[in-house]
Formats: sequence, structure tokens, C-alpha cells
Amino acid sequence: MEEQGKRDGTKELVSTSADCPFHAGSKRFPSTLLAQETLLDPFGVYKMLRSERPVAFIPDQNIWILSRYDDCKFVLEHPEKFSSKEAVSSTNAYRRSAEALEILKQSKASPRARTLIMSDPPEHDRYREILHRALAPGQTVRALTPKMKLIIDELIDGFCERGLCEFIQEFAYPLPMRVVAAILDVPDDQIDMLKAWSDDFIAVQAGNISDDRIVSSARRTLEFEDFILRKVDDRRREPTDDFLGRLVNQPPNEERLSIPELLNICLQVLVGGNETTTNFLGSTLFTIVSRPGLLGDIRQSVARIPQLIEEILRVESPLQGLFRIATEDHAFGDVVVPKGAKLMLCFGSANRDEAYYGTAEFDPTRDYRHNMHLAFGHGIHACAGQAFARRESVLAMEALVNRLPGLRLSDKAPPIRQMLLGIRGFKVLHIEFDPAPKISNLSAKLAHDTRAA
Ligand code: HEM
Repeated sequence: MEEQGKRDGTKELVSTSADCPFHAGSKRFPSTLLAQETLLDPFGVYKMLRSERPVAFIPDQNIWILSRYDDCKFVLEHPEKFSSKEAVSSTNAYRRSAEALEILKQSKASPRARTLIMSDPPEHDRYREILHRALAPGQTVRALTPKMKLIIDELIDGFCERGLCEFIQEFAYPLPMRVVAAILDVPDDQIDMLKAWSDDFIAVQAGNISDDRIVSSARRTLEFEDFILRKVDDRRREPTDDFLGRLVNQPPNEERLSIPELLNICLQVLVGGNETTTNFLGSTLFTIVSRPGLLGDIRQSVARIPQLIEEILRVESPLQGLFRIATEDHAFGDVVVPKGAKLMLCFGSANRDEAYYGTAEFDPTRDYRHNMHLAFGHGIHACAGQAFARRESVLAMEALVNRLPGLRLSDKAPPIRQMLLGIRGFKVLHIEFDPAPKISNLSAKLAHDTRAA
């Protein structure tokens, strides 16, 4: 810790790499944010940050971490002071491959558009309005509910007679993908392709990708564009009342989306709902089977699942942090964050802030009407797909607890957590249960559910 002069002439303590929570040699923090034990369980470090350094500058990463609820919420409510525009692009791996950049010159999405999560008002207002009309969350979630139930039952049928499964690969990974495929009207036999595009995009953005894969990802990006643009052409010829149809056939008074804008919006819908929901489904099932008595309680009353889902979103937020860039100097208390600074809003910490929640402890009966969590963000960028994620998760947990008696963690293969800063979930989660029958006639059940919807 070093003393540094502030503008008003007073001094403040600033982290140096020796006490940086990212830094392996940290003296001040017993563990570091990037250390294995912190990635497994970051909540002790978050608590320390909240009480001792709620606005912490991390020199090694040139980043400011905000860990208190009120500060994170303030930033989300002031996009004019804290921009999203450049906040997510700094790790894009294409920048390090001339070959990939050459391939991308043929992209129909060039010059690249920055929509939704990569934009600020006033541009964001237009994109968000167009997305909201096209996605029509209330109507689409209702219309897709029978299909979601069908997908969930098909996935459970794939392993229920076996008495065990690896939950992430066999359920949590395919379910969100198939729901997004239904939104984008992609048939089942093309879902693997869709998933490969989504995985590539996430890996390129995160920057943790081999040079060979960067080049093949660039090629596959062009495939994705052609695929979506063929669907767009179909809908221009023959308008449809679905997501892509509504996206393409805009009302006459609305400024038309360019091709790059349209492709960028589709990409964000594809990617936005995948990994986050996979991680969330894993954390939810893990919580249900590992908290004593919880599984029994919800078997007694599945009506409690929606409330439980909110509590798990709070304590196990799949996105533990998000970034913004300060557009002007801003004082949080007596710490001034300078213009141009990169901020990480630590939702994982904010959602456990005792100052806001009273107690941060897991409480499946918590009343959310007054204490909303930040797991889906807040303000103008709040998750556009949250209604889908909620419905998917509730339906999934209802079906799993109803159909799999004796549901438990496997004692033969331990769970393996994601070990990435800012992400919470599982890579591997083996579960066991008493073998249970498949549903004999899924198409009749779909017809029944569709009528009921
Ligand atoms: C548990 C699952 C999910 C979590 C935790 C989650 C989380 C988030 C968060 C925190 C944001 C705000 C980003 C920001 O402020 O910069 C966001 C935005 C967004 N999410 Fe989600 N999301 C989930 C599921 C989904 C799904 C299923 C979809 C699509 C069907 C989706 C589509 C989007 C889009 C398009 C945005 C950008 C909105 C904008 O910038 O206006 N998300 N999500």
C-alpha cells in the first residue's frame, strides 16, 4: 500500500502489486482473486474488498473493482458517465492474427456494428427498442413454453433409465442452445453448427484461443453470417411473425437496421443466453442437491422454485462481473476514478452486500420484491433474455426434481468448477438418481402442453 496525492491535496492509500488482490504475492489479502482457491470460492475476498477497499485499483490489470451494491447500481444507472462501448472489446483475439483479419475482410458485417451490449445511448435506445419488439419476451416465452418442456423431457429421457449422468454435457449445455435455436428458428439437425459458432465467438472475445482456432473461427463467422442472411432473405420475401421476421420487417417509421447491425444483434442473442444459462443451471442443481433438506422442501412444493431461482441467481451469479469505461472523473466517496478508467462491477460481491441485504446468507424464502439482485444487470442494458432464462430454469428444475427420484451428487466423481475470473458455474457435475422411466409419448405430451398454453 502506498500513499498518493489526491487533487485536493490530501493523501489516499492506493493498492500496489504487493497488496493487489489479483497478485499472487499479495500480502494484504490472504488469497488473491486469480488464485485457485479464490476462483473456487471468491466470497471471502469480496467481503474483504467491500469492507476495506470498496473501490480498489488493481495496477497489474489496470482495472478498478467496485464491490458494493450501491456503487455497482449507480454505475449501471449512469451510462452517460460509464460507457459500455469499448468495455468488452479489449481482449478480442482476432487482433493478433493477420490471417483471420484477412478472412474477415469478406465479412458482410463489415464495417462492424456495435449494438446493444457494445453501445451507449442514444444508439443503444434504438437497438434496444428494435430488439424488444422482435424478441417480444412475454409473448415468445409463452409461445415457446411447450417446446421448452419438450426439450427438457427429451434431454431427461436421454439419461433417466441409466441412474446417472454428467449434468453439464447432457443437460445444462444443450438446453439453452436448443432454446436459442428455437428463437432463431434453427432446426434440430443444425444446432451443433449453431453451438460451434457460439463457442467460437465466446473464445475469440475472451482471448483464450489457439492461433489455429482463430483462423477457423474467422471462417465460421462468415458461415454464421451467410446462414442468418439466408433466413433474413426468406423473411423479406415472405414475412413471418417470429423473432427474425419481426427484426427484419420493421415498421415504416423505424430507421432500418443495416446488415452489420442486424448480424450483430443476432450474434448477441445467440451468445448472450448460452454460457450464462449453462452455468446457472449447473449452480442451481448443485445448490438443490447439496443443501440439506432443500430438495425435500421443493419436492413438497414446486411452487417455491421461482423464488429459489432468484436466490440462487443472487448468491451464485453466473456473471460475477462486468465492465464499463469511465467517461469522466468520478468520485466514489473519497476515491476518484479517472476518466478512461476500466471498471469491473463485481455483481458476485454486490449481490452479497450486507449493507443492502442485511444478511448475505443463502435464504430460499427471501422476498425479492424489495431487494432485487444484479445478476441480470440493471438499467438500460439489463438482460434482454431474462424472461427466457427464468422460465427455462424453473421448468428444468421442476422436471428434474419430479422425474428423478433419489437425486443426489455422485460420490464417485467430484464436481469441477469453472476456473475463470468473472464466471461462476461448473465444467463437470456428475449426478445420480434411482433409474426412472422415459416419457412414453412425448409428441402427445407436446400437443397437450401446447393446448394448455
Ligand atoms: C442466467 C442466464 C443469464 C444471465 C445471468 C444473463 C446476464 C446478463 C447481464 C448481467 C446482462 C447485462 C450486461 C451489461 O449490463 O453490460 C445481460 C445482457 C443481455 N443478455 Fe443476458 N443473461 C442471461 C441469459 C440471457 C438469455 C437467455 C438471452 C437471450 C435469449 C440473453 C440476452 C442478452 C442480451 C441480448 C443482452 C444485452 C442487452 C443490452 O445491452 O441492452 N441473456 N445479460
